[in-house]
Amino acid sequence: MSLIERAADKLSKNEIGNFIPGKAPQTVKTSFDPLFLSNNVPPGQKIAKEASASDSLATDSTNRASSSKKTTKKIEIDLENLHRKGIVTLDHSRSEIAEQFRLIKRPLIANAFNPDSGIKNGNLIMVTSSLSGEGKSFCSINLAMSIAMEMDHRVLLVDADVARPSIPASLGFSPEEPGLLDLLRDPQWKIPDVMMKTNVKKLTLIPAGRRHAHATELLASQSMHSILAELAHRYHDRVVIFDSPPLLLTSEARVLAGQMGQIVLVVEAERTTQQTVKEALQQIEACDVINLIYNKARAHSGGGYYGYGYY
Ligand SMILES: Nc1ncnc2c1ncn2[C@@H]1O[C@H](COP(=O)(O)OP(=O)(O)OP(=O)(O)O)[C@@H](O)[C@H]1O
Ligand SMILES: [Mg+2]
Repeated sequence: MSLIERAADKLSKNEIGNFIPGKAPQTVKTSFDPLFLSNNVPPGQKIAKEASASDSLATDSTNRASSSKKTTKKIEIDLENLHRKGIVTLDHSRSEIAEQFRLIKRPLIANAFNPDSGIKNGNLIMVTSSLSGEGKSFCSINLAMSIAMEMDHRVLLVDADVARPSIPASLGFSPEEPGLLDLLRDPQWKIPDVMMKTNVKKLTLIPAGRRHAHATELLASQSMHSILAELAHRYHDRVVIFDSPPLLLTSEARVLAGQMGQIVLVVEAERTTQQTVKEALQQIEACDVINLIYNKARAHSGGGYYGYGYY
């Protein structure tokens, strides 16, 4: 049975039924054991999908060209607001979601920093999914917050969903901030020029940058190779998390996947079919380390959520 078939099989109903809440499967190189993430919308609270930040992106090229470069800008993340959206925050470090991301981050960090892992560019972690709305941005931000807030490692969260960036709306900054696309199209821009510090000490952001008609080509360019090499080597002490577009709906995600040390594939429970997951896995076959997150999962018996009553 191929790796892809094994992975898809793990997502079959029987395997899910055998999952023990709170017990993380071992992740080894080329692991397809899925980690489970419950639907974390607090009871009685409906979390609306953020309006696409790209809706408000300016397309006026004069406007874009007139912006000047900035260095080490700092943004103030509204942590209480983030908590209301179901994101891990330090003040709520014993929450169910915080505990779930502790389990999710552990093998990723081990792969990134264990010199014996043999994983090339292990600190570059792409979060993607087959389709849209499966929870990539939710998981990227949670993973970044979880790692940064517990002071495990410094984290760089890169908004690589350049066509529909949603991190600005979630973390509260303008989608007009220069970022990845600016780095890619103008060699005068350097990584520190587009980094934004935050009030979470170990968390730094790189926004998607100002929209460009040839975003896919830019992501596939030699400049992107150089930027990723720099992130892997010069920033080797950081976990670099890329919130990415969906694999089956865009070509950007495939292009990026080929250059990542680890990939986290988010699979939305009760929506994404096994066949769809198989197709997505085929797109990222070249990556040695693929972790699955089975997201928005409900328990199969008792009607509760996975992880409920874990404490
Ligand atoms: N485990 C979860 N518990 C509760 N809400 C969740 C969970 N995962 C995702 N969501 C919610 O589902 C919606 C879609 O999630 P998100 O925006 O992260 O998906 P996405 O894959 O990044 O979408 P897109 O493809 O549009 O970028 C959001 O409102 C998010 O808050
Ligand atoms: Mg997203």
